[in-house]
Amino acid sequence: MGRLPLLFVSLTAFAVLLLAGAAAAQAAQEEEACLSCHAAEGLTLTLPGKESLPVTIDPKIFKQSVHGSVLTCATCHPNNTQYPHPKVAAKTLRDYKVARAEICQTCHSDVAKEFAGSIHGRALVMGFPDVPSCTSCHGAHDVVQASTPAFRNNTPQLCGTCHGDPRIMAKYGLRPVYEAYIREFHGVTTTLYKLTKPYSPTPAAICYDCHGVHNIKDTNDPAALVAAGNILTTCRKCHPTAGRLFASAWTEHATPGPQASPLVYYVQVFYRLLIPSVLGFLVMLSVLDLGRWAGDRLKGLRG
Ligand code: HEC
Ligand code: HEC
Ligand code: HEC
Ligand code: HEC
Ligand code: HEC
Ligand code: HEC
Ligand code: HEC
Repeated sequence: MGRLPLLFVSLTAFAVLLLAGAAAAQAAQEEEACLSCHAAEGLTLTLPGKESLPVTIDPKIFKQSVHGSVLTCATCHPNNTQYPHPKVAAKTLRDYKVARAEICQTCHSDVAKEFAGSIHGRALVMGFPDVPSCTSCHGAHDVVQASTPAFRNNTPQLCGTCHGDPRIMAKYGLRPVYEAYIREFHGVTTTLYKLTKPYSPTPAAICYDCHGVHNIKDTNDPAALVAAGNILTTCRKCHPTAGRLFASAWTEHATPGPQASPLVYYVQVFYRLLIPSVLGFLVMLSVLDLGRWAGDRLKGLRG
């Protein structure tokens, strides 16, 4: 290599480094500018619908998030670089959050495409108020790695915030399956892991092992992982020797009733009748005995 090209290469490399350094410095400065206002306690934004939104951001939480060292505030809020900021169009808190969560698509387009075809994604676009957007499950400034054991072991609770609420589920004609899940074997094992081994992923099935995550379908959709044609493949991921009837012997989401698991149901009913009758009988016996004793005392006093 001649002297001139060498000089050229070194100069170019130096310029690139300088530019990268300047960009990083500018990003840090920009973030500091945002935080000079947003780290302060007590700032709020009042939406046209009268709901108020606290706009205080904890810099420590953001720094520790997966995006803390790779994105700046302005990456996700390109319209807020000047103050006063442009007026917020959303009328309610829900609308505000759903609109802001659209930014996630710009980088995570594969996930976003999958999500758009899921039951949650479709219902979100149709404007149903109770379905999750990206930030319902991941947060906005506190996004953590999703592949960690802690995130996995906490998934049932995450899904359960909606799927354990009978009031929300009734609106969509669905059962609140969370309670039944927690009581069954997969759920019990998962709770044990969450409480005693938070750093190990539960080996038992959690919601997304059976339903998927960003691709969740209506359970009646033939493409659902739990549809009749797919369920055995889904169970065989962990129960490789499962036979044809394996899935039908399972009562995960069914609270026992006269139709679902009748034997379990009638044993429960029997105990529900037996225990109060035994207690009632004991109480009656004590009352009679007390009456008899009081009667005898009275007779003794008179006589
Ligand atoms: C001079 C103080 C100040 C600075 C600097 C500032 N903000 Fe704000 N920001 C506010 C206040 C006050 C609100 C509450 C609503 C309002 O008054 O506009 C707000 C609201 C917001 C909101 C919520 C409303 C919306 O538009 O979604 C976001 C997001 C936001 N700021 C981001 C930023 C970012 C990013 C920066 C830096 C590039 C920044 N802000 C710089 C004071 C500031
Ligand atoms: C990965 C994208 C992303 C980054 C980076 C980001 N934000 Fe946000 N921000 C959002 C989303 C999404 C919302 C919508 C609120 C929600 O869903 O809770 C939001 C909401 C806000 C709000 C309104 C109050 C609230 O909490 O809802 C403020 C203020 C704000 N951001 C400021 C900032 C500041 C300051 C930074 C940098 C320290 C920052 N944001 C970095 C995505 C981001
Ligand atoms: C400007 C691009 C960009 C935007 C916008 C963005 N992300 Fe990210 N996100 C990234 C990058 C880059 C990483 C990888 C960081 C790393 O691995 O250290 C990441 C990582 C993640 C992870 C962890 C991935 C894993 O393997 O567990 C999740 C979850 C995530 N982002 C969710 C979101 C959500 C939710 C939003 C919207 C609030 C969002 N992202 C917006 C670029 C972006
Ligand atoms: C119903 C809750 C839920 C919603 C809604 C959701 N996610 Fe996730 N996401 C999860 C769970 C649970 C995992 C972990 C899955 C795993 O480890 O197999 C995950 C994993 C991820 C990951 C890392 C792994 C990967 O697949 O790349 C990214 C990035 C991510 N989500 C982004 C998003 C974005 C962007 C949206 C919105 C379009 C979104 N998520 C909506 C629950 C959700
Ligand atoms: C913010 C609330 C919310 C969260 C969080 C949530 N869901 Fe949902 N989910 C809904 C609502 C509401 C519907 C009904 C949508 C409809 O019928 O259009 C639904 C539908 C479903 C369905 C389809 C049921 C059927 O057969 O029609 C499945 C399966 C499902 N969710 C699983 C999950 C799993 C797994 C998670 C966690 C990874 C989760 N959901 C997290 C609100 C939520
Ligand atoms: C071992 C696999 C498995 C696990 C784990 C599992 N599900 Fe299911 N889920 C199914 C099957 C199979 C069906 C369809 C049969 C039924 O409704 O019982 C179903 C049905 C559903 C439905 C539709 C209920 C209705 O009323 O039609 C929802 C919603 C749902 N599951 C959510 C969840 C959530 C949330 C979790 C975690 C707390 C979870 N599932 C864990 C296999 C599973
Ligand atoms: C992510 C892995 C995983 C998936 C997927 C899974 N299971 Fe399991 N399952 C386990 C583990 C681990 C155990 C043993 C520990 C326990 O009881 O939780 C278990 C236990 C069981 C048991 C109790 C009896 C036994 O064999 O120990 C039944 C029944 C069962 N699973 C049925 C199913 C059905 C039906 C499906 C599909 C709809 C399914 N499982 C999907 C991991 C899984």
